[in-house]
Amino acid sequence: MQIEYKQRRERLMAKIGNGTAIFRSAPMAVMHNDVEYAYRQDSDFYYLTGFNEAEAVAVLAPHHEEHKFVLFVQPKDREKEVWSGYRCGVEGAKELYGADEAYPISELNEKLPQYLEKAERIYYRFGRDRHFNDTIIKHWQQLLRTYPKRGTGPVAIEDIAHVLHPMRLVKSETELSLMRKAADIAVAAHIRAMDFAKPGVYEYQVQAEIEHTFKLYGASGPAYPSIVASGANACVLHYIENNRQLQPQELLLIDAGCAYGYYNSDITRTFPVDGKFTGEQKALYEIVLTAQKQALEQVQPGNAYNLHHDTAVRVITEGLVDLGILQGDIDTLIGEEKYKPFYMHRTGHWLGLDVHDVGVYQHGEDKPQILQAGQVLTVEPGIYIVPNTEPAEGQPPIHPRWSGIGIRIEDDVLVTATGNEVLTAGVPKEIADLEG
Ligand code: GLY
Ligand code: MN
Ligand code: MN
Repeated sequence: MQIEYKQRRERLMAKIGNGTAIFRSAPMAVMHNDVEYAYRQDSDFYYLTGFNEAEAVAVLAPHHEEHKFVLFVQPKDREKEVWSGYRCGVEGAKELYGADEAYPISELNEKLPQYLEKAERIYYRFGRDRHFNDTIIKHWQQLLRTYPKRGTGPVAIEDIAHVLHPMRLVKSETELSLMRKAADIAVAAHIRAMDFAKPGVYEYQVQAEIEHTFKLYGASGPAYPSIVASGANACVLHYIENNRQLQPQELLLIDAGCAYGYYNSDITRTFPVDGKFTGEQKALYEIVLTAQKQALEQVQPGNAYNLHHDTAVRVITEGLVDLGILQGDIDTLIGEEKYKPFYMHRTGHWLGLDVHDVGVYQHGEDKPQILQAGQVLTVEPGIYIVPNTEPAEGQPPIHPRWSGIGIRIEDDVLVTATGNEVLTAGVPKEIADLEG
C-alpha cells in the first residue's frame, strides 16, 4: 500500500511542479468532557500518506532537492502514548510512511519556510482549522515581505482541491477492492435487517442488527448515522432518532452504509414491515424502482453526469401524474420543478473516502462532468409524501391515503469501461422479493 501512496504523491507532484502543497491532519473531535471520538484522518491527507495520526502536517515540495515529501508529526512520548495510543514518531514517519524528512510538529514554524522559499505558489485548501489557516497566511506574508531579497517565493495560494480531487474521483483497483468490501458488508447488514424487521420491534433494534453486522465483518463502523425510519419518519431525509416501534402495514426505510479501510458504502432500501405492500405503497414503490432502474441505465462512460438525475425526475413526474398526485403537461411540470415537494434531493453523489465524495458535478453551466470508468456514485431516487403538504399552485390537493409514505432506493455504482457495475446489487429491491 505504501507504494500506492507514493505513486499518488508523485502524480500530484508532477502536476504542481514548482509549487509546494501543504496538508493538515483532521482535528480530534470531542464527544464530551475528556472524551474524544475515535480519530479519523482527513481524507486528502490519508489519500496521499496513509498516515492516521492527529496533529500532523504533510508537505509536498517537488522542487526541493532532497525533501520532496516531509511529515511533521507528534514525537514519541512514552507517557502520552500510554494514555492515548501509539505514535509512529519522527523516525517512524520516515521508515514506515516514506517521508524524505520528518520533524516534530512543534518545529513547524521554524522548518516550513525552507520548503516555501523557492516555491512559485502554495497549494493549500483552507479548512475548518482557523488557527492553521492563519499559520499558512502568516508564513506567506513573511515570504512576501522578504521576496525582494530573494527574488523567489510563492506569489499565490491556490486551492489544492482542483488538482487533487480529480485524482480521487477515479478509483484505483486497490481503492475498488476496499469499496467492494464496504459494499459487501453493507449488503449483508441490510439483508439481516430485512430478516429481523417486523411489527413490534423498535427502529433502534433494527439499527443494532445493522451495526452489529458492520463490526462483525470488520468495518470500522457506520459511514454516517444509520437512518432507520418507519412510517412517516421516512419523509425526514436525515431522520436519525430511530426510536419508534414498527407498525403493521407501514414501510421501513433503511439508509445505512459502512466504512471499511476508510472507504464507504451507502445503501437505502424500503420494504413493508409485515411483508405486504398496501396498494398506495406499491404504486409509489413501482415508480421509484422504475426511476432507479432507468437512472442506472444512464450510468455509462461518456454520458453526462446529470443524465441519470434527469431520467429519474422524468419517471417520477410521469408516475405522479398517472396517480393523480400531480396534474399537467410533463415537460411543464419538470420545467417548473413541480415534482420537488415529493422529490427534493438529487439522484446521487460521488462515493469514496468521503460519503459525499469530492469531485465536481459540472464544469460550469451546460458543461456537465462526463462519466468515466473508475468513478463510483450513488443512484438514489425517492418519493416522499410529507404529511400536510400543501399542493403547489395549480396542483390538486393531496389525498390523505398517500400521506406519510416515504420511499428511497439507493445503490452504489461503479462506472466501467463498457457500462456499469452495481456494487450493492445483493440487497433485494424487487417487489416479489420484499413481500412474503
Ligand atoms: N446517507 C446519505 C446519503 O444517502 O447521501
Ligand atoms: Mn444514503
Ligand atoms: Mn447517498
